[in-house]
Amino acid sequence: MLKSLKNKCLDCKNCNLCETRHNVVFGVGNEKTDIMFIGEGPGEQEDLKGEPFVGRAGMLLDKLLNSIHLDRHENIYIANIVKCRPPQNRDPKPEEQDMCLTWLYEQIRIIEPKIIVCLGRIAAAKMIDPDIKIMRDHGKIYRKDGLIMMPILHPAAILRNQHLLPETFGDFLRLRDELEKISG
Ligand code: URA
Repeated sequence: MLKSLKNKCLDCKNCNLCETRHNVVFGVGNEKTDIMFIGEGPGEQEDLKGEPFVGRAGMLLDKLLNSIHLDRHENIYIANIVKCRPPQNRDPKPEEQDMCLTWLYEQIRIIEPKIIVCLGRIAAAKMIDPDIKIMRDHGKIYRKDGLIMMPILHPAAILRNQHLLPETFGDFLRLRDELEKISG
């Protein structure tokens, strides 16, 4: 059950990020889902609220999800590579990522998704392939460990470069097609 895993995770002191966090951002959504979205790590708003993707990037993510009839509370699960905010929103260090991944792997083991969508470069490198170039490879379908995996652009990057929005919509349509295939 995710609930007991979450309770353990809320006490985690495996790395230094525990010293500066306000909240552990464990994840949100429906644990009975075929599709998980994985981001990089909490930002300021997420740290304050304890929920992933609640800032401006999260609002854009919600719109993209809604465009293919997905909803963060109803039919997907969202988590991050690291559960605590890196100070000043710096990239999580490799050792922080590696230590925190045990929580994410447990979440994946419990949820048993069929599709994992990686939001941005860091999640894609960690979950799919360290050599992924996110601008080149976003929207491609990868198969790994019996799962379908797709890297997409991070919504914060799209907010900074709005011309990337149409191709991201295209990636979400491809994702919808994959979902239709697996649900028969
Ligand atoms: N960016 C992420 O990668 N994750 C969040 O939860 C928020 C912003």
